[in-house]
Amino acid sequence: MLPTEKLEQEHDVILKMLKVIQAVSGKIEEIDQKTLKDIIDFIRTFADHCHHAKEEKILYVEAEKHGIPNEGGPIGMMLVEHDQGRGYVKMMDEALQKVGKGDKKAAKQYKENALQFVDLLEQHIGKENQILYPMINMHLPEKLQKVISDRFEKMEKEEVGEGVHHKYHALVEEMEVKFLK
Ligand SMILES: [Fe+2]
Ligand SMILES: [Fe+2]
Repeated sequence: MLPTEKLEQEHDVILKMLKVIQAVSGKIEEIDQKTLKDIIDFIRTFADHCHHAKEEKILYVEAEKHGIPNEGGPIGMMLVEHDQGRGYVKMMDEALQKVGKGDKKAAKQYKENALQFVDLLEQHIGKENQILYPMINMHLPEKLQKVISDRFEKMEKEEVGEGVHHKYHALVEEMEVKFLK
């Protein structure tokens, strides 16, 4: 499997969670705190620590070495969007804490940031799947692709931990049943 195919599979899981976030964003006062915290945890651990780290620390570093521009180019744009996403998630997390303390107005802060986050990340994933990943596959030699796949696996074991992926897949499925069906 190509490294970008692995990342596209992760995109599918993230896109499902974005639909869940969209569904819950306007009614967080009706939803238990644990579920809302699990969503933030999913974004931070699965989407950011696990997925974005593979792009930022491995794939995009190699892509830049092979001629795809970073600053002012597609890679730089993706990195900026990862950071924008982190900003929205931070605001969502803060809003949840305020809601937990009884600040009803913070529900609006959650909703606004959640919807912006969903919009940003859906478009971001579209750009990676349709533009940047195909570009990377044209530039990176086959041998290097294999090395990158191995480094992805190693990173997952060492930095994220085995079984973590499975846990988050299960969480998304559980939430889909709860909020989307
Ligand atoms: Fe990305
Ligand atoms: Fe991605």
